[in-house]
Amino acid sequence: MPRVIYNTATTLNGFLADDQDSLSWLFVVRGAEEAESGFSGFLKGIGVLVMGSTTYEWILEHENLAEHPEKWPYDDIASFVLSSRRLPEIPGADVRFRRGGIDEMWSELTDAAGDRDIWLVGGGDLVGQFAEAGHLDEIRVSVAPVTLTSGKPLLPRRLESDRLTLESVKQAGQFAELVYTVRSAS
Ligand SMILES: NC(=O)c1ccc[n+]([C@@H]2O[C@H](COP(=O)([O-])OP(=O)(O)OC[C@H]3O[C@@H](n4cnc5c(N)ncnc54)[C@H](OP(=O)(O)O)[C@@H]3O)[C@@H](O)[C@H]2O)c1
Repeated sequence: MPRVIYNTATTLNGFLADDQDSLSWLFVVRGAEEAESGFSGFLKGIGVLVMGSTTYEWILEHENLAEHPEKWPYDDIASFVLSSRRLPEIPGADVRFRRGGIDEMWSELTDAAGDRDIWLVGGGDLVGQFAEAGHLDEIRVSVAPVTLTSGKPLLPRRLESDRLTLESVKQAGQFAELVYTVRSAS
């Protein structure tokens, strides 16, 4: 069974993006290259990724994929985008649009992942849907030295310390990389 891993950068006070979905605060943090080098190793173990529509639309715009579809960064990974809307496709990319509950799509996700893991890209509510369905095994956060007054939340669910175990702590430039395993609700 693949492991389901939420891997993301976050502000110190738990935001993925600001209210305008901007990540400008993230790209100026020193040491991003160090954090990125560990990330390429992580990606090798990933067979499926799942993201919500805001995140997908951010990548479309940020990479200008309408004009440069070859810049889709996740070539070898079956990419599931959750949305109730019809979104632009990317020629040549393995992007699969789905909607509905996690249980309904679970067997398709595990089949597509094969012997590799599932990466939850975000956002936070999507990860919460996986947690509620009992399909969240690990949280890996790179905490940036930034606070914001408001924005898109890291994980807007209540998971207390009986369910989260801190497995490792590492410094990468100005980022603190924390890895937690998640225990299912009993
Ligand atoms: N800091 C980082 O490293 C990092 C990582 C990831 C994301 N981000 C950023 O954080 C922000 C996250 O945005 P967000 O919180 O709005 O989350 P999101 O998960 O990207 O998008 C949420 C939207 O996805 C659709 N959706 C979610 N679950 C669904 C389901 N089960 N079935 C059908 N549709 C579903 C819904 O929109 P529709 O149905 O209307 O399409 C929902 O409003 C983005 O700006 C992203 O770029 C940052």
